[in-house]
Amino acid sequence: MKFGVDYYPEHWDRSEWRAQAELMKKAGFNTVRMAEFAWGRLEPREGEFDFEWLDEIIELLGREGIKTILGTPTAAPPKWLFNKYDIVMRDRYGRPRAFGTRRDCCSNNQQYREYSRRIVEKMAERYGKNPYVTAWQIDNEFGCHDSTRCYCENCRKAFARWTDEKYKDISELNKKYGNVFWSLEYSSFDDIILPAYTSCEGAERFNRSHNPSLEMDFYRFSSDSWIDFAREQVDIIRRYSEYPITHNLMGHFSDIDYYKLAKELDIVSWDNYVDNQWSHESYERSAMAHELMRGAKNNNFWVMEEQSGPSGWDVFGGTPRPGQIRLWTYQAVAHGAEGILYFRFRTAPFGMEQYWLGVVDHDGIPRRRYYEISRTASELEKISDLIEGSESETEVLIVKSYEDNWSHSIKSNAAGFDHTEELLKYYTANNHLGTDPDCGSIDMIGKYKIAYMPACAIIDAETEERLKSYVSGGGTLVLTYRSGIRDEMNNTIAETFPGRLRELAGITVEEFDTSPVKTTVSDGYGCAKMWRDIIKTESAKPVFFYESEYYVGTPAVTVNEYGKGRVWYIACDLEADALERLVKRISDDAGVKYVTHPEGTEVVRRRSGDKRYLMLLNHTDKEKHMSINGVSPITGSRFGGVLAPYCAECIETPPEL
Ligand code: GLA
Ligand code: ZN
Repeated sequence: MKFGVDYYPEHWDRSEWRAQAELMKKAGFNTVRMAEFAWGRLEPREGEFDFEWLDEIIELLGREGIKTILGTPTAAPPKWLFNKYDIVMRDRYGRPRAFGTRRDCCSNNQQYREYSRRIVEKMAERYGKNPYVTAWQIDNEFGCHDSTRCYCENCRKAFARWTDEKYKDISELNKKYGNVFWSLEYSSFDDIILPAYTSCEGAERFNRSHNPSLEMDFYRFSSDSWIDFAREQVDIIRRYSEYPITHNLMGHFSDIDYYKLAKELDIVSWDNYVDNQWSHESYERSAMAHELMRGAKNNNFWVMEEQSGPSGWDVFGGTPRPGQIRLWTYQAVAHGAEGILYFRFRTAPFGMEQYWLGVVDHDGIPRRRYYEISRTASELEKISDLIEGSESETEVLIVKSYEDNWSHSIKSNAAGFDHTEELLKYYTANNHLGTDPDCGSIDMIGKYKIAYMPACAIIDAETEERLKSYVSGGGTLVLTYRSGIRDEMNNTIAETFPGRLRELAGITVEEFDTSPVKTTVSDGYGCAKMWRDIIKTESAKPVFFYESEYYVGTPAVTVNEYGKGRVWYIACDLEADALERLVKRISDDAGVKYVTHPEGTEVVRRRSGDKRYLMLLNHTDKEKHMSINGVSPITGSRFGGVLAPYCAECIETPPEL
């Protein structure tokens, strides 16, 4: 198992390297990631390369038993390149990004691409077979700092080519976009525009004024542009190296289609920051992020940057409590991580990230966080054979589609609606129940007893057939409001909702209500606040009813038998506890297994070959009494049933589970 740190030797005097390497070794680290922002030091002047320092540190670490994941440095080009060419992105107002940070270049800029190819090739040539290198990371966090979509002239031209290839004939594009609306018809692909600032625009990010088909294609094109950028680097590295290639993704981030990106990579990795200046993630949200990253390639993954201290750029986020870094590490492993690198080794006393604390502080002295991480390393080493290649035993899938996410981000239905949060509600209800769902694309659906597809807006003919065969074969499909409402052009379908899902759900949507009223649902099922579909059943049976408004007594939740399976339709947003009760009912009805556990804890069932084990996680500052017992494969002793605050345990799965 890879266990290590992100390391920036270029930030330190060479005289410090040996002592730092020794500290790393003592901590139990066997891997570092290096060089992903070091372009300025690797090519200090155009065409003048300096790899000597990198050679030295790779070797020094290698001799200590620490291998290198080598980052290509294209997220942070050097100043001379900015001086020579205009390579920066343009925002929706046409404003260029200024030099001074990173991730500011346009993926469709030919000079940026050319110089990127050259530095990548130089590195691949030099290190492709180096025995102390173990993997490659291409670039760093595509899309970070809101950098997915650029509005420059290069991008406009590239978008014109992209649309030309897709539609061939401009009248076809005009028809599909519905450009007749507001006289938007183009005469040729040269007319193509990007959805930049217009007179109808509101201040909000989601208050867009452009044609929704144009927006959708621009989202697709922008995601494709970075994937193309990634592929170029992957292809170069593969010519020189057989080491696995990864890129560090960003969990719930959705501007780039991670299923498509992951196809280009050998393994997915991602950066997990639980508590920082900008966000204080709930443990359920972090758990789901891990599952999404596992689902990106339907395979285990690495955490390339795991939080190791208080974190922020201008102000600090929370300080991890004793035990919490270990807990976050166990949580990652519980959800499919088989490599963990902490960000970063020694805290930088200069530059933007002085407040982003690492494993050791600015003074380089190991303290509590170092010792906790070191203990975690030695524990996980003992079960690395259980961790590597392990699988979750869940029978439930939450389906995420990036196209649905984009569709809802372009037209977000109702105040308060957010596709990511919608999926998270269903993930959370399942996590609390203990079904511990996987998350991933519809391609994974076959293996699971239940598939949740909240607000799956765009259903094409192929998806319709897939879902029909899944359900008729015995699967349980859970649909909600705003499903089946749009076509692949991101336009509203001209048929009755839920369109291609009508036969499966056995209902039609006659009206909907987003007025700011609260409607309770029968059987004490909490209230619908944001969205109510007013539905008519065809073959479905009503399960719960609205209790007020002009649609009092009409169904709020239905279930439809279809072949050997069934389809639930949830017509409104339910409060969290109501949703949990409903998820329990759906799970019991489908006969899926779950492990009951106290609030604030997780129990994750995993299997490695014929060995089964449970990861028990206590995310609270209170002791938790677990009604589970078993022997720890780490210590060999019996778990006493009480999880200390912020504690994690691994035990062999008792036979009754
Ligand atoms: C991201 C980046 C890192 C670092 C951290 C902390 O995850 O990948 O380089 O900047 O954030 O800010
Ligand atoms: Zn651009």
